[in-house]
Amino acid sequence: MTDTMSAWRRETYGPASGVALERIPVPVPHHGEVLLRVRATALNAGDVRLLLGDPLLVRPVFGLTRPKHPVRGMEVAGTVVALGPDVVGAEMGEDVVGELVGGGGLAEYVRVPASRLVPVPPDIPAASAACLPVAGGTAWQALDLAGVGLRHGHTPRLLIIGASGGVGTFAVQLAALRGAEVWATCSARNAPLVERLGAVRTLDHRESPLSGIPAGRFDAIIDIAGGVPLRELQRLTVHGGTIVLVTGDGGHVLGPIPRMLRAAVLSLGSRRIRPLTASPRPEVLAKLLELVAEGRVVPVIEREYPFSEASAALAHLEAGHTVGKVVVTHPAR
Ligand SMILES: NC(=O)c1ccc[n+]([C@@H]2O[C@H](COP(=O)([O-])OP(=O)(O)OC[C@H]3O[C@@H](n4cnc5c(N)ncnc54)[C@H](OP(=O)(O)O)[C@@H]3O)[C@@H](O)[C@H]2O)c1
Repeated sequence: MTDTMSAWRRETYGPASGVALERIPVPVPHHGEVLLRVRATALNAGDVRLLLGDPLLVRPVFGLTRPKHPVRGMEVAGTVVALGPDVVGAEMGEDVVGELVGGGGLAEYVRVPASRLVPVPPDIPAASAACLPVAGGTAWQALDLAGVGLRHGHTPRLLIIGASGGVGTFAVQLAALRGAEVWATCSARNAPLVERLGAVRTLDHRESPLSGIPAGRFDAIIDIAGGVPLRELQRLTVHGGTIVLVTGDGGHVLGPIPRMLRAAVLSLGSRRIRPLTASPRPEVLAKLLELVAEGRVVPVIEREYPFSEASAALAHLEAGHTVGKVVVTHPAR
């Protein structure tokens, strides 16, 4: 193994067009960490936010004047090629998948805490496994927070706003598996896909479809795309129902925070609005891998880009119309 590697970096906040392929030192795994040779990295809307440093609210945490982590990519599947001190539960040569909270996946190698990683069954391609930690994990946690599938003998009617992206395509499949009757908003071109994934009804988000729906129609709503007033979401929900806010959209300075504050005030009534902050959950990731291995959940991959074209993959995501996931893959090494 060499001492240096290729990585896609952006030293300043800005668009994907400014990301450059550079040679940097191969990281050394610290206490409890392993070094992965990256096989596939899936991208998320969050990668674009951190690339742009938008909303400004993220900058005190992720770098005030420039990104603390200049390499994006938060979902990674790879092979363990070195162990740091005191690593438990990971073996050399093992194929694993996990979440990188600070990014780092758009590189040939990355160091990761071993406790975050889950082994990938041999029949699951690296590109499919890489889609699961953030997008699948967020969908799973949103459904838990919405209480979908937690009451036996009850078929909840669930509305998913924004069903065609990374989180949305998992949310539809997982909700259907949990026995929900899934209604979903997406654009007309994505309706056949979303229905194949398990939605019984799709509504075109470009035509304000929600105003015509009677009040109290849904037991729960998962808002992934934003754009619908909170009062309207509450109108559509039954008394005692739950609305989960996943979307990170909002203004240039504070992002989703003002909407979350309004949600806290409006939640004093009988229809609670609960913002989700998803976190890395290896036990959920293991369940998602099981579902994929059984063919009960299928990661939707719009396009795989070779590592040499990772900046184009980020630019595609930046445009905001990704269907399912975009994944960057490395040639077999
Ligand atoms: N709370 C958390 O912990 C957490 C965790 C992960 C992600 N997130 C947030 O979740 C959101 C989704 O992330 P993602 O990675 O899944 O995004 P993504 O894959 O980039 O989503 C793109 C998809 O959203 C659809 N879309 C855009 N505007 C829409 C609208 N108004 N109504 C319906 N669909 C719409 C697009 O369809 P068209 O082609 O029709 O435009 C496209 O298919 C982001 O805001 C992200 O920041 C939050």
